[in-house]
Amino acid sequence: MTQDELKTLVGQAAVAHVPEGGIVGVGTGSTVNQFIIALAAIKDRIQGAVSSSEASTEKLKALGIPVFDSNAVDELAVYIDGADEIDHAGHMIKGGGAALTREKIVAAQSKRFICIADESKLVHRLGAFPLPVEVIPMATHRVIRQFAGLGGTAVVRQKNGAPLVTDNGQHIVDVTGLRITDPLAFESDVNQWPGVVTVGVFAHQKAAICLLGTASGVKTLTF
Ligand code: 5RP
Repeated sequence: MTQDELKTLVGQAAVAHVPEGGIVGVGTGSTVNQFIIALAAIKDRIQGAVSSSEASTEKLKALGIPVFDSNAVDELAVYIDGADEIDHAGHMIKGGGAALTREKIVAAQSKRFICIADESKLVHRLGAFPLPVEVIPMATHRVIRQFAGLGGTAVVRQKNGAPLVTDNGQHIVDVTGLRITDPLAFESDVNQWPGVVTVGVFAHQKAAICLLGTASGVKTLTF
């Protein structure tokens, strides 16, 4: 099976975890896009969604799924999102689609994070995927120097020849060369750096389960 077929498989499998009559938290990315398509088929059985990006909001609305403001909803039963890497404890790197801040907000208001990923995303230690960090533009150079102090190389993500601007009006730096041995401590530490909006390590908001697409079908990893 191709990676795209595995994404479709787990996107469809995630629908079984959507609470009847409820509001579901929806992430961002190509795997989630498959989930959104599958969700549209049962849209009459849910109230709607809270979305983690303008891109997902557009897709949800285009398929007739109502989108609620996160402030209008107290708690969500589940949040369904992809990952760039997930380890065997459910810690993740996210933000390849630049939506990490809103993803962490919706994950925090959800009781269970259900990660949907193809098997290439499962790793023993986080850090091979360049770590996305959303940064306030005036702090970019200092944050890059701080990562250099940890042995990392950070670059400002570009789009059409200029720094990419997130849904929140900020920039993203992508950091390679890090050894993230303690994801919880690393997330807490980097979050304290002035100018960092969100670090793409999801250890405090880790996955409760992962629906992993493999050549032999969907495996459920429970953390
Ligand atoms: C977006 C994300 C995505 O969940 C992550 O990049 C995985 O994307 P894809 O499903 O396209 O592989 O964090 O900010």
